[in-house]
Amino acid sequence: MAGLGPDVRVFQDPEVLSHAAAALFVETANQAITQRGQYLVALSGGKTPERLYALLAQSPYRELIDWPKLRAFWGDERCVPAEDLNSNYRQARDLFLSHVPVPPENVRRVRTELEPGLAAEDYALALRKNASPPLQWPRFDLVLLGLGEDGHTASLFPHSPLETMKPTLAVMAPGQDRSGWRVTMTPPVFNSAHRVVFLVQGVGKSKIVASILYGEPNPELWPAQRIRPEDGELIWMLDTGAAANT
Ligand code: 6PG
Repeated sequence: MAGLGPDVRVFQDPEVLSHAAAALFVETANQAITQRGQYLVALSGGKTPERLYALLAQSPYRELIDWPKLRAFWGDERCVPAEDLNSNYRQARDLFLSHVPVPPENVRRVRTELEPGLAAEDYALALRKNASPPLQWPRFDLVLLGLGEDGHTASLFPHSPLETMKPTLAVMAPGQDRSGWRVTMTPPVFNSAHRVVFLVQGVGKSKIVASILYGEPNPELWPAQRIRPEDGELIWMLDTGAAANT
């Protein structure tokens, strides 16, 4: 909302946070399907959304979404085989997408069997095939994002290429426990969404959350600060641990 501060919602613990996120996922689905006849989502990887994904495959949430209207994409992907335990696609597929009636053709993973540069170009083509003109990519109804303790989100890492109008990039993740090549969507795609939700939990994230939300603008160091939807909502969903410094 113009002029107001960020929309920050704090929940007592990770379980309550995950249920709130599931309820928001359902609410966004119903708004999108009513208004536009489909639900375009860009999913996140990492550990934080695992419980959310599991909840979406269960009652009551499962019954509340018109699943054949969902089109699933990934905000970023590790360049590992689709069956690899580190695959963001495999995580979401196994936790919920394979348990609900989403048509397979509506699930568009990054083709990590291609070399990273080609996988990124291939994904840009897939986004273009689902574009919301005049954009060259979908105007997502929901972008789900996590936050790394270094301020990265999706696979936009500190000191990553700052400005690009390309919708996807192949990047090398810095030497964390998840190093290696990634394919990521870029800020222009995220910032064109109707709704962007950061889902962050744990006191270990409290310092970086405060820096991102209330610290000096420093998008080179903290890429999550580059996420500012032009004409959409930005919602931070935190547990009390992650909100400890806000
Ligand atoms: C990934 C995610 C990444 C993640 C953050 C937070 O592919 O790992 O896209 O950006 O959201 O690193 O990860 P956790 O939820 O595991 O803390």
